[in-house]
Amino acid sequence: MSWHIQCAEDGCHARHRPDYPSHQCQKCGGLLEVRRDLNGLSGGAMRATWVERRLSNLPLDRSGVWRFRELVSFFHDAASVITLAEGRTPLLDAPGTGAWAGGVDLTVKHQGANPTGSFKDLGMTAAITRALALRVSVVACASTGNTSSSMAAYAARAGLRALVFVPAGKVAAAKLAQAIDLGAFIIELGENFDQAFELVRKASAELGLYLVNSVNPFRIEGQKTLAFELLEQRDWRAPDFIVVPGGNLGNVSAITKGLREISTLGLIQKMPRLVVIQSAGADAFCRLMTSGADELVPVAQPETEATAIRIGNPANWRKARRALIETQGLCESVSDEEIFEAKRALALEGIGCEPASAATIAGIRRLCAAGRIPPRADVVAVLTGHQLKDPDYVARHAAEIESGRRLQVEPTADALCGVVERILKASP
Ligand code: F0G
Repeated sequence: MSWHIQCAEDGCHARHRPDYPSHQCQKCGGLLEVRRDLNGLSGGAMRATWVERRLSNLPLDRSGVWRFRELVSFFHDAASVITLAEGRTPLLDAPGTGAWAGGVDLTVKHQGANPTGSFKDLGMTAAITRALALRVSVVACASTGNTSSSMAAYAARAGLRALVFVPAGKVAAAKLAQAIDLGAFIIELGENFDQAFELVRKASAELGLYLVNSVNPFRIEGQKTLAFELLEQRDWRAPDFIVVPGGNLGNVSAITKGLREISTLGLIQKMPRLVVIQSAGADAFCRLMTSGADELVPVAQPETEATAIRIGNPANWRKARRALIETQGLCESVSDEEIFEAKRALALEGIGCEPASAATIAGIRRLCAAGRIPPRADVVAVLTGHQLKDPDYVARHAAEIESGRRLQVEPTADALCGVVERILKASP
C-alpha cells in the first residue's frame, strides 16, 4: 500500500518522505497528515470484508482500528501491530437524555469501553505501532491524563519506555494511577497542559523522544476509525450531527478525516456536521470560530472541572477549523454547572462518563435552545472517557448527587431493617 506524509495546510500541502521524523511541515511549520491514494479501492468490497472480520478471532480483526486496515494508510503487516483489542465500543441510544437536551434523537458512542477507558486507545495503537517501525525506544507525551494512561499501556505492550509530562496536581488521580501502574515515568511540571506540551514538544527533537500527542499524524490515522465503526453500527446512515468535546482538537480533526475518506469512497450519502463543545474556561477555539478571526488567541489560564479539556492553546486548531468549515459544523462552550447537569441526565439512563464527555450533552442542549440544532435531529455524541476516570469529581459533588441516598447505620439487623423500611416508604 503506498502512502506518504503531506502538510495539512491549505496552500502548502508539501509532501514529506514516510520516515520524516518531525510532526511539523518542513516548509511551513503546519501539521501533517498521512495520505494514501483511495483510487482503486472499492467501498462496497471493503464494507463486506469489514463485516466478515467481525466474526474472526485474529487479534488484528478483534481491533476496531485494524479491522479497517485498508484505510489505516500505513498498515503493512500484522506482525508489526501493537494492539490491545481497542475500539468495538457500543453505540447506545439515550432517548431520555435526548429529550432533556431539547428533543433530539440521541445516540452515544461510548469510548470509555476502550482498554484504558478512553478514545485515546484508537490513536495510540497506531502511534505506538509506528514508533516500533521507526525503531524508537522512548515515547513521550504531555497530557491532561488520558493520553498518558493510553500511551503507558501501549508502550508497555511494545516494550518501549514511556515518559509522561503532566501539569502538577491538575490531572485526575485515577488517570495518573493508571499510567504509574502501567510502568510509565511521570514527570510533573507546569501549571497546565499547554505549558507541559510546549516544553516536551521542543525537547522531544533534541532528546530523541517520539511524541505521541495528537500532533502525531499516525495517531490521527487510528482515531479516524471511530467514524468507520460508528457508521457501520448505523448501517452507513450518516447522522445529522456528530458532537465531540474539544481539547487539543485532535479528535474532531481525526473523525472528519475518516468521514472525508468514507465519503470519497461513496459509503455515505451526506457529510454529518461536526460539533465541537468546549468548557467555558478553556474555549479559545469557540471564540475563534465565533469571532471569525484569522488566528487563535490562546486562553492563558484555562480553568474547568472537566480537566481532560483544560487546554488553552489547542495545537490542532487549524485542522479543526477546516473540519467545521468543510462540514458546516458548529461550536459552543458550556459552563461547569451545565456539564454537571448533563452528566446527571446521562446517569439517569444508566450511562456514566467523565465530565469532559458530558460536555457534549450540555452543548447539544444549548444548541437546541438556540435553534441551531433542530428538534428531532439525528445526533451522535461521542463520550470520550469512562466514568471511573474521575471519581474525585463525583466525590466533590457528593452532596448534590446523593441527595440523601447515602446513609450510615449501626451494624445491627434492627438498624438495617429500619433504614430499608424508611427508604421503601419514602420512594415507592
Ligand atoms: N475528552 C477526553 C476524556 C479527553 O481526555 C480529551 C483530551 C478530550 C475529550 C479532548 O480531545 O484533545 O482530541 O480535542 N485529552 C488529552 C489528554 C488532551 O492528554 O488526555 P482532543
